[in-house]
Amino acid sequence: MLTNDTIILGIESSCDDTGASILKNGKLLANIIAGQEVHAAYGGVVPELASRAHQRNIVPTVEVALREAGVSKSALSAIAYTKGPGLMGSLLVGSSFAKSMALGLGIPSIGVDHMRGHILAHFISKVGEPTNEPRFPFLSLTVSGGHTQLVLVHSVEKMEVLGKTLDDAAGEAFDKTAKMIGLPYPGGPLIDKHAKLGNPSFSFNKPKIADLNMSFSGLKTSILYFLRDQIKEEPDFVALHLNDICASVQNCIVEILIEKTSKAIRIHKPVDIALSGGVAANSGLRAAFTDLAQVHGIGCHIPAFEYCTDNAAMIAMAGHFLHEKGLYSGLETVPSANLAL
Ligand code: KG4
Ligand code: ZN
Repeated sequence: MLTNDTIILGIESSCDDTGASILKNGKLLANIIAGQEVHAAYGGVVPELASRAHQRNIVPTVEVALREAGVSKSALSAIAYTKGPGLMGSLLVGSSFAKSMALGLGIPSIGVDHMRGHILAHFISKVGEPTNEPRFPFLSLTVSGGHTQLVLVHSVEKMEVLGKTLDDAAGEAFDKTAKMIGLPYPGGPLIDKHAKLGNPSFSFNKPKIADLNMSFSGLKTSILYFLRDQIKEEPDFVALHLNDICASVQNCIVEILIEKTSKAIRIHKPVDIALSGGVAANSGLRAAFTDLAQVHGIGCHIPAFEYCTDNAAMIAMAGHFLHEKGLYSGLETVPSANLAL
């Protein structure tokens, strides 16, 4: 049946989550995510295991998304997929699947930059739900286990990277510190939980970087040496001060992110600020980000958690905007692990 509806299937497979999502005329109908428990035993994502799990998960994930949306394959207008940055093996599974399916259906495929997807997650809304989009130009802070970026978003297409981490991502700093104090992977949510019960009574050296770039690897070393010295004096230091250690680490990471965001606001004067990525779940960061917007008298946007972490709805959203402009990718488009915004 011919319709004028635009129906986009989005596929996300950049790291360890296999996602499939359906958008109809820019509104979300389904957002399915298959996580990968297999990595927990290794204390981090194992790339080879991730790509094998994507291979197992991708067909059922897409099938469930189509079923939940009540959409048949033949009704799809285009298929959007993550083309990078990410783990090469994982990207290859999603991109090959998306391109093959699009070819089989005779519809266009659209390669999407994962970081643009995170930013466009602010535009996702379900059918019947009011939209609550940030106004342009807005300042986006994307913080996850793989990325930490400040971007000035002039429009859906025009995005300007103002600063990013020079080494580890903020989520990595949470996860690596958690490992040092014996918390399981991913440790970010656990640090958050313990931080709520403690006080930020310890301080660590913060990196001195003049521009809007950030660094988190020095902090990791500072925490390591701090713990080593304290344990020498008091062998049970970690167990006895776990909540305060978590509160102090969280406080330090949040301060670094907020200082840079604040500086970017002063220089670039955005209309709104917007937070995304898995670390956007952190209670300390959410509170500080919201306060920062209030201090500057600007709007603050933090999407629902399911759109902050890696998900296919954000890829479908980016695909929807590209489809509106007729900007498709050819079958020759190959994923890039280090794709830069
Ligand atoms: O966006 P995401 O699901 O995956 C990518 O890394 O792309 O983000 C996962 C990251 C992990 O580093 C995890 O520890 C962190 O987000 N995270 C948190 C919290 N919830 C998730 N970090 C601090 N506090 C949290 N509540
Ligand atoms: Zn991500």
